[in-house]
Amino acid sequence: MSIRTILASDLDPIQANAWLTGSIAPRPIAFASTVNAAGVRNLAPFSFFNAFGSNPPMLAFAPNRRGRDGTTKHTYQNVAATKEFVIATVSHAMVQQMNVASAEYAEGVDEFLKSGFTPLAATFVQAALVAESPVQMECRLHQVVELGGGPGSGLMLIGEILCFHAKEEMLTNDLPDPRKLDHVARNGGAFYTRAMGDSLFEIAKPAGKPIGFDRLPEVLKHSHILSGNDLGRLANTAEMPDLSAMPAKPGDPEGAQDLEEAIAKAVRSEDLAEAWRLIGQRLWC
Ligand SMILES: Cc1cc2nc3c(=O)[nH]c(=O)nc-3n(C[C@H](O)[C@H](O)[C@H](O)COP(=O)(O)O)c2cc1C
Repeated sequence: MSIRTILASDLDPIQANAWLTGSIAPRPIAFASTVNAAGVRNLAPFSFFNAFGSNPPMLAFAPNRRGRDGTTKHTYQNVAATKEFVIATVSHAMVQQMNVASAEYAEGVDEFLKSGFTPLAATFVQAALVAESPVQMECRLHQVVELGGGPGSGLMLIGEILCFHAKEEMLTNDLPDPRKLDHVARNGGAFYTRAMGDSLFEIAKPAGKPIGFDRLPEVLKHSHILSGNDLGRLANTAEMPDLSAMPAKPGDPEGAQDLEEAIAKAVRSEDLAEAWRLIGQRLWC
């Protein structure tokens, strides 16, 4: 295995941006709706974005200084002036229009008109909601964090969420349902990710204090059949089974390789009891 190391101090801001966005990916997209001091609407996407606390609920996104000349973007200027904003999430059905909204329009141009999205009145802030978005948050500015001052430097806007809005059809048991949102995220270059179908999967949370990788039988760790994910799933077993008491069943495979294939099959179908029973057999062959 060969690993390449790049010193951040050797990168110019454009290269650093390419390494950041290529490495920290996929990133969720904040579609930020703001108004300027005169009340003119603005809409632009930002993928330097995430949630940072639940009490009170906080998010942050970063409309950074332009890499070419260090000037600030309209979104930053509007939030600095009004201290409020709306963050809308972006579904796959919205990506092409969102891309149009990301162009650099002149001050005072309403990107709702340019991109064709539908503005709706918000409850607590002057900025508009985006009717097409599955989930949105009205926010009050909590803090501005300057991360430098030169071209490409970060301007992080932390907002306290005043309320969530979600389309009813996006909810299951009163919460946003990952299977319905069809959210998109940003990767490096011009790549995006769509969170839908096979791209979504569930993992059981660690069961209390799971047994851990270190307690797995050594023979399994050297298997060419069991993957890191198979071993990880076994390591997430709540209590170490008594491997000396695992009953054999008629029809059990006999060779080491066949047994490991059967173990892998059981793990991948979430039948851990059967996997451990077969592991008991594997230890004796
Ligand atoms: C998907 C996507 C994500 C983006 N993420 C960011 C970001 O995190 N920070 C940033 O400064 N610009 C980002 N941009 C570029 C801004 O959207 C772009 O500079 C926009 O013109 C800013 O608009 P404004 O001047 O109206 O605020 C992104 C563009 C796209 C298409």
